[in-house]
Amino acid sequence: MNATGQPVKPALTQIPPHIGNWADYAALAREHMEAHAWAHLESGADQGLTLAHNRKAFDRIRLRPEPLADLSQAHTRQNLLGQTLDWPLLLAPVAYQKLAHPEGELDTVCAAMAMRTGMVVSTLSSYTLEEIAKAAHRTAQELGRSGPLWFQLYQQASRKHTLELIRRAEAAGYQALVWTIDAHIKRSSYPLPPGVEAANLRGMPKQRQTSDLMSEHILFGTALAQSAPTWDDLVWLREQTKLPLIVKGVLSASSAAKAVELGADAIVVSNHGGRVLDGAVSPLEVLPAIRAATPAHIPLLMDSGVRYGTDVIKALALGASAVMIGRPQMHALAVAGMLGVAHMLYLLRAELELAMAQTGIQAIENIDKNLLTTSDL
Ligand code: FNR
Repeated sequence: MNATGQPVKPALTQIPPHIGNWADYAALAREHMEAHAWAHLESGADQGLTLAHNRKAFDRIRLRPEPLADLSQAHTRQNLLGQTLDWPLLLAPVAYQKLAHPEGELDTVCAAMAMRTGMVVSTLSSYTLEEIAKAAHRTAQELGRSGPLWFQLYQQASRKHTLELIRRAEAAGYQALVWTIDAHIKRSSYPLPPGVEAANLRGMPKQRQTSDLMSEHILFGTALAQSAPTWDDLVWLREQTKLPLIVKGVLSASSAAKAVELGADAIVVSNHGGRVLDGAVSPLEVLPAIRAATPAHIPLLMDSGVRYGTDVIKALALGASAVMIGRPQMHALAVAGMLGVAHMLYLLRAELELAMAQTGIQAIENIDKNLLTTSDL
């Protein structure tokens, strides 16, 4: 059953004509997902304060229109970590995409490549990282179009298994590692339905994200607390791979600076879409301070709450080099599989190009704070 009490609708094979933006996909998606999976996707930590705040942070910023610019050479390209991004948006790592569609990550990655969009594949993907890379390469060959393909790493209980994941990602052709540091410990009680599993972790010991509340120790004193990532793990990771290393889940200037000192090549400023610490700051409001504390050549990515093309401009104006979207890819995947994700990316890109045109921006590097004002002013 879906969240409306009706049988789950299968994915559409044609895009309904009324779909004009992400919100239209989100509104339909709940009918195309099983009710628990939908609740899991949409949830935020505790009261959902941070989840709501992520959107408010975008909404309170306004853009200054700037007509009459010459747009004849305008484009959205950008260089990042030695790769060309066709436009400054990537798909954030989102676990278990079979919850939205039977083809899960395989459909998502084909859509991303077809739309020349980067994708970060989760450690907790429901197809293996090799299967997903293969689908990406096949699409790139068939269409002559591709985008960056990165692997998101969750540290495993033993370094041996973490290293195994890194070597597999390198062998499969992933071009960067995104090490997520903010979600090792969180409240999560979603039992996966039959047929959905962490395909990359078959044969590895299962890690709990929450402690057994009935045991003597709640969190402190448990194996979970002992295995949480630390700065020493960053030092170790940096020694293990030549791939660019991106640290995801940073919200303070001091942590960003320290991560770079210890070898991070880029930072993702993120609160995990409001799913971990309720009451946490939104990435948008800390971006300027993190930009100021981080060497200029280190790219900052950001996610949490990005939904529209104008959001991309706002984040870039505050110091991001690129943004990522999490839940929206699942919404579009549930509604219409590969076609839906490709269409949703097309709509977002159209919004970005329109907003750039309306604010007189010919190139991504020209986006700066002068474009912005806030409702407080
Ligand atoms: C996530 N996110 C996430 N992050 C990560 O590093 N590894 C993961 O496996 C997952 N899995 C995951 C599942 C689901 C259902 C959600 C909603 C999110 C966090 C994700 O990468 C990203 O930080 C947020 O989703 C961004 O916020 P928005 O765009 O969803 O508001």
